[in-house]
Amino acid sequence: MRVLLLGGGGREHALAWKINQSKRLTKLYVAPGNAGTCEVAENVNIRATDFEEVARFIKQEAINLLVVGPEEPLVAGIRDYLEADGSFPSLVIVGPGRAGAALEGSKEFAKGFMTRHGIPTAAYCPVTSENRAEGIAFLRRQRPPYVLKADGLAAGKGVLIVEDPEEAARELGLMLEGKFGKAGERVVIEEFLRGIELSVFVLTDGKEYKILGSAKDYKRAGEGDTGLNTGGMGAISPVPFADAAFNRAVEERIIIPTIRGLRADGIAYKGFIFFGLMKVGDEPFVIEYNVRLGDPETEVVIPRLTSDLLSLFEAMERGTLREAACETTPRYQAAVMLTARGYPGPYEKGQVITGLHDARESLVFHAGTAARGDAVVTNGGRVIAISSRGDTLEEALQRAYQDAGRIHFEGKYFRRDIGKDVKGRE
Ligand code: AMP
Ligand code: GLY
Repeated sequence: MRVLLLGGGGREHALAWKINQSKRLTKLYVAPGNAGTCEVAENVNIRATDFEEVARFIKQEAINLLVVGPEEPLVAGIRDYLEADGSFPSLVIVGPGRAGAALEGSKEFAKGFMTRHGIPTAAYCPVTSENRAEGIAFLRRQRPPYVLKADGLAAGKGVLIVEDPEEAARELGLMLEGKFGKAGERVVIEEFLRGIELSVFVLTDGKEYKILGSAKDYKRAGEGDTGLNTGGMGAISPVPFADAAFNRAVEERIIIPTIRGLRADGIAYKGFIFFGLMKVGDEPFVIEYNVRLGDPETEVVIPRLTSDLLSLFEAMERGTLREAACETTPRYQAAVMLTARGYPGPYEKGQVITGLHDARESLVFHAGTAARGDAVVTNGGRVIAISSRGDTLEEALQRAYQDAGRIHFEGKYFRRDIGKDVKGRE
């Protein structure tokens, strides 16, 4: 198979690393990729949202399989674009069309979908400038803290959680007036769910599905879950507190009804679904859907997958996912993200990274790196995900932290408490 993978972060390096191991692979390209993906694939300088260039490249290189890493091209309709082109009747695309991608692209659509299909989620109220008073009344009925979400994609920054009711009302006004640009012209106010977060990753053809694994992500910049939200500072898989009964509840009350709901709504869906969940007591609730894999969750979920990923994609296309092999190791995988000074605010770029080959006990997935001559330099806020395996979570974390100390660049920062909150709960 000739494969094109879109994206250039740690998620894509982990996917490229895995795809590169497949016997079914003849050639792998990553666009635009980073200084890590070029070790396992050929980088192509095309932006994932430049559909014309992507289509031209698919034609030119006779690509059979397109894997879409990030959400933007999916929400912008890359599948619809390529299907409408008509030149690629046998191209396999991993990622939904625009209609399915609305599960991530519109919070209001996702909430409506869950309500329609009886999928457990927080109570909510959709608000625009037309029904602001209704929004304020909904806020009054909630207990603090208050959750306000911009409807559209806002690069993970569109969610506000505020304690004070006056501030919540004020923020609602600011959002409707354009604080988050177009993404915030519609706002979803939600009931606050108290619990512990985790995510579950599924590959589906719209009928059948395979669960790839679960992960817990560490979103805040500071230790003890303090400070600003980030894309994710680390992750572990599997999730120690997700026991068999909980996993069964997730499958029966969330995964199956979601896939059934898509069919009932007439939405064809081939690709990943990322279920962002809150475990409230023993019950699972959906916090959000994403229509792609997570980053850095992929860096821990994919290394645990022992089955061939390209065969799974083929099974997705053929509608034979039910019989396909999708095995994972029971061992733990933990990832620690090394970030650049300033992240998640404005951060430095262009610092030389050393020690990349000294991290012998881990997989070193590049997130924000670039090649500069013979050197590898920082090129993003999240720079490197160090992902390690262990028979226990403790062992996996120990290896990751050992290697985190072996890679150097000016301004390197990482959280030292990844997995700490759940250690010993295995
Ligand atoms: P989202 O972009 O919807 O995943 O929201 C970002 C983060 O805000 C989530 O990862 C949660 O930590 C938090 N969050 C979102 N919605 C809720 C909710 N209803 N209750 C509690 N926390 C939430
Ligand atoms: N780590 C969270 C995400 O990928 O959305």
